[in-house]
Parts: sequence; structure tokens; C-alpha cells
Amino acid sequence: MRHFVYFSQKAQTSGNFDDLMKAGRLDIAIHVIIASFFLSHGVRDDVKTHLVFYGMPDPPKHIEMQVTPELDISKKDVATLIKKILYKYKPGQKTEVLPGCFIEKKNLFDLLEELIEQGNELFILDKRGEKLRDAELPENCIFLIGDQDGIPKKELRRLKGVANKISIGPKMYFASHVVAVVNNELDNRGY
Ligand SMILES: C[S@@+](CC[C@H](N)C(=O)[O-])C[C@H]1O[C@@H](n2cnc3c(N)ncnc32)[C@H](O)[C@@H]1O
Repeated sequence: MRHFVYFSQKAQTSGNFDDLMKAGRLDIAIHVIIASFFLSHGVRDDVKTHLVFYGMPDPPKHIEMQVTPELDISKKDVATLIKKILYKYKPGQKTEVLPGCFIEKKNLFDLLEELIEQGNELFILDKRGEKLRDAELPENCIFLIGDQDGIPKKELRRLKGVANKISIGPKMYFASHVVAVVNNELDNRGY
């Protein structure tokens, strides 16, 4: 399984938004979801994408998504999906809002620890990391990607020694570009 973890310090943690940009750049989270799951004539069912939001009013929130045959998802309306998931949050539990779509209160480190315990290896996407094309990647990977401000130094310090840094190239790309390139690399490797 491929896991993408998109971390955003500012993304809003409630569903009452109209303007995606003003809601802590939820537009970026939506592009990440589109790049995670959508193909020209189909969807990927071998990917789990996790959105970890630390913005107001009730951080942290962890949204987990996987496309299942029962999930009615359109790339034209991912914003409504995110809104619905955020609205359905219930304190003290992991709620399955729609098939394959969950929300809970969980911070980045607890999520990463849980995924690592399940046997996944963690990689941090960073321009200065080892070249993705040359990297040894197991089939079960977690790819941690930052928002418009990148992954905060505090979080990076805590992950030192737990994860390797991987670069997709010499430019600073959009978070969604990174997801598309990693998906493509894993496709080419036959994962
Ligand atoms: C728009 S970039 C963040 C830009 C932010 N100003 C910074 O300096 O980190 C969003 C995320 O994409 C990933 N990213 C961007 N370019 C990359 C590259 N060349 N290789 C690997 N990951 C990259 C990183 O995880 C980054 O946090």
C-alpha cells in the first residue's frame, strides 16, 4: 500500500468554509487528493491518503481516504467531500463518514508511529533529499509532504533518524506534483 501524508499547519479543522484559499489553503489539500487517486480513465485503489490539519478551530485532525467501489467520488467536487468529512467529526472516535473516508483527532507523530508499526517505511519529501529514481523503496511506504510553508522545523527535528529524505528533482514543486511523480515512479517499478 502507498501512503501519502499531507501535513498542513494552517489547514482549517472545521467544515464551515467557503473560500478554500482562506481556509488554510485547502485548495492544495484538494489537489493532493486528485493527484493521489485519479487517473485519466479510472481511480487508484492502492493508495491511502492522509490529511493532517493543525489549523483552527480544533486541531489536530486526521482525515484518511481510500477509494473503494462504494465511494461516490468526483474530482469536480472534492471540496464538498472534505467539508462533509470535517463536519462529521465526533470527539473520541475514528468515524467512517463515507466508505473508506475516516476522521479522528490524531497528531502527525501518532499517525506516523501507527503506520510504521504496521510495517510501512517513512520517507520525507524534500528537495535536498536522495534522488527518488535512485532510492530503494519497499512496497509499503509512507511519503510525508508539506504544504505551502513546507514541513515545520520542529516536526523535521523529531523525525530525524526515523525517516530518509527523498527528492523528486531540483525545483520546488507543488505538493500535488510530488504525489503525481511518486505515483508514477511506483507505477514504473511495478508496485
Ligand atoms: C510547495 S512545497 C513547499 C514550499 C515551502 N516554501 C518550502 O520551502 O518547503 C510543498 C511540499 O512539496 C514537497 N516538495 C516540493 N519540491 C520537492 C522536491 N523537489 N522534492 C521532494 N519534495 C518536494 C515538500 O514536501 C514540500 O514541503
